[in-house]
Amino acid sequence: KAETPRKKKRVFLAAPRGFCAGVDRAIQIVEKSIETYGAPVYVRHEIVHNRHVVSRLADLGAIFVESLDDCPDDRPVVFSAHGVPKSVPQAAKAREMNFLDATCPLVSKVHIEAERHAKEGRHILLIGHEGHPEVIGTMGQLPKGKMTLIETADDAREFEPNDASNLALVTQTTLSVDDTAELIAILQSRFPMIALPYKEDICYATTNRQLAVKAIAERCDLLMVIGSVTSSNSKRLVEVGAKAGSNKSMLISSAESIDWALIDEAETLGLSAGASAPEYLTDGVLAALKSRYDIKIEEVEVTKEKVVFRLPRQLLNK
Ligand code: F3S
Repeated sequence: KAETPRKKKRVFLAAPRGFCAGVDRAIQIVEKSIETYGAPVYVRHEIVHNRHVVSRLADLGAIFVESLDDCPDDRPVVFSAHGVPKSVPQAAKAREMNFLDATCPLVSKVHIEAERHAKEGRHILLIGHEGHPEVIGTMGQLPKGKMTLIETADDAREFEPNDASNLALVTQTTLSVDDTAELIAILQSRFPMIALPYKEDICYATTNRQLAVKAIAERCDLLMVIGSVTSSNSKRLVEVGAKAGSNKSMLISSAESIDWALIDEAETLGLSAGASAPEYLTDGVLAALKSRYDIKIEEVEVTKEKVVFRLPRQLLNK
């Protein structure tokens, strides 16, 4: 008996997608620390916000904790890519711990900016999401009261400064480019003197992944973004896709969480992955699609990325 022909699906694959240079470096720091110092190596907070990455590193000998208090003095500890408040390396130093800082250099750049503004006497507005570790880390660069978190357009409209001529703005690195531009416009119209970042704080990887999703969104009945629910940049990709015209836009953690009923209804699919999602998860989703449908993949690449960050000195030549 002849097989029934398989349904056809077109798949638009966004590029760039997946790992950024900061995530790549952070993961390497954990791997090399384990190689160099032996297991266990402690990691303060999920090194990057991806469950698959974290469990693989845990298998290699990393122990993930939320606080430095949960680490012994005599084992190395790695700080996650999102950055940490100043008090954390200070406490590690006081305990004479061997600590390795996997803070993404582009997050450190924002920390340095904030400090410079504070030294020059400016009050700082930080656009970001409350409770995200990057926001906790950036706010923790300065003493309490020197920085105000702006999360929404209402926050931007309602903020009342003591001195409107001495304000500066910094942002989280993984925000929606368009939503942030809206908030900046509100603040700038209210406080024309506000010092803005020299170059945007939203990082190249966040920007490029959003551009790539925008480039495919209109053609997608269903857009899937691979990433964990804790991943800020992945969640922004889902929103950007919906805004840019994808009929449905959703976050999936891997091929296992695909909603096949939704796929079945969709003729055209879009696929991207957040900056902390390994490429093998994308391969897994494509393989799962191939096993059920006759798929035609078209990669839409908006730009090439060549950014690479150096490892900390402690781990070079090891
Ligand atoms: Fe860094 Fe941006 Fe990745 S801030 S960790 S390059 S998402």
